[in-house]
Amino acid sequence: MPSVDGVARDPNRVLVFDTTLRDGEQAPGFSMGVAQKLEMARALAALNVDVIEAGFAAASPGDEEAVRVVSGEVEGPIFCSLSRATESDIMAAHRALGHNRCRRLHIFLGTSPIHRRAKFNMSADEVLAQAVASVQFARTLFEDVEFSAEDAIRTEPEYLGDVLEAVAEAGAQTLNVPDTVGYSTPEEIGGLFQYLNRRVIQRYPHTILSTHCHDDLGMAVANTLSAVKAGARQVEVAINGIGERAGNCALEEVVMALRTRADQFGLFTGVDSTKLVGVSRLLSQVTETPVPRNKAIVGINAFAHEAGIHQHGVLADARTYEIMLPQDVGFDGTSFVLGKHSGRHAVAKRASVLGHELSGNALSAVFAGFKRRADEIGEIDDAELVAIIRSETEETRGIHAAV
Ligand code: KIV
Ligand code: ZN
Repeated sequence: MPSVDGVARDPNRVLVFDTTLRDGEQAPGFSMGVAQKLEMARALAALNVDVIEAGFAAASPGDEEAVRVVSGEVEGPIFCSLSRATESDIMAAHRALGHNRCRRLHIFLGTSPIHRRAKFNMSADEVLAQAVASVQFARTLFEDVEFSAEDAIRTEPEYLGDVLEAVAEAGAQTLNVPDTVGYSTPEEIGGLFQYLNRRVIQRYPHTILSTHCHDDLGMAVANTLSAVKAGARQVEVAINGIGERAGNCALEEVVMALRTRADQFGLFTGVDSTKLVGVSRLLSQVTETPVPRNKAIVGINAFAHEAGIHQHGVLADARTYEIMLPQDVGFDGTSFVLGKHSGRHAVAKRASVLGHELSGNALSAVFAGFKRRADEIGEIDDAELVAIIRSETEETRGIHAAV
């Protein structure tokens, strides 16, 4: 069973906290009911994520029920509910998770000047006091408490350090530093995590820093990796990168970046990467939202090649244009897509697989017909290629016969 203590014993292990069913699910178009969350949670458990944030129990009776059912029926990861820093929210999470030994409460409270002023009309000291009181109350009901300083990136670093130290003292073991609005840059977030690591983790070595990056400027994955390099040992991520607005950091991208560039990071996760494509497809079906073709790691183009030069290179040695094995993320293999950029060699090879050995004039005729048709319709699938072969080879035979 994953635990903060277990991870602390291996300083190179990065915990994967999946928030597909909470931050992901709360984004427009990605709403999931209890049955859908259950199906996804089973797949996430099989993927071997460490923590599943199953919902926000106080948000609605349906979400409370989803947290209860998912955490009651699925085994393996730590189950977690989000909660505001209030007793009533914490109680709702406890009602939903109470029966489950493997559970975590995740409290969040805005700490930045704009959140303190616009949302709460509270001073910095009042926010800090509420953070501490909520963690103290939570620890009377939960062993495992995470605290998120919402909008941490736009919070004064010194004050953020004060808040995190105070909640660590009150009993929070995971200290999450969210880039709630996707505003940070890799250099900035790296510097912040270095500072917090030096200041807070040195003093509370049993705690871990966590990163939670949104993608408003398209830097969620880069920012997450930078935070990890600077000491974060939990990443909060979502399948296919779903989440508020432009989304969260994509689980599959961070996991494969850590694995593929172990030379850069020297870190690992417990995720079974061979299940990434399957979980991505399941989420796509459940939410009726297609995965973009060019999505990193799990899009259908991730290991597909149409251009003749690339196909030729990959046929000679896949490493010319692929940096991961397709099987390592759950694809059957590399796919060669035939289209107007494909070469004669790839067309002949596919034709041969389909039972047509082409050479000489016949191949030239098929290849010319193939290019004309590809200009018209784009991708040429097997049925289309067979139709072209039939029509062109008959024409070739006809011409020969006429001559
Ligand atoms: O983006 C954010 O700040 C959050 C918190 C609730 C962790 O989702
Ligand atoms: Zn978020």
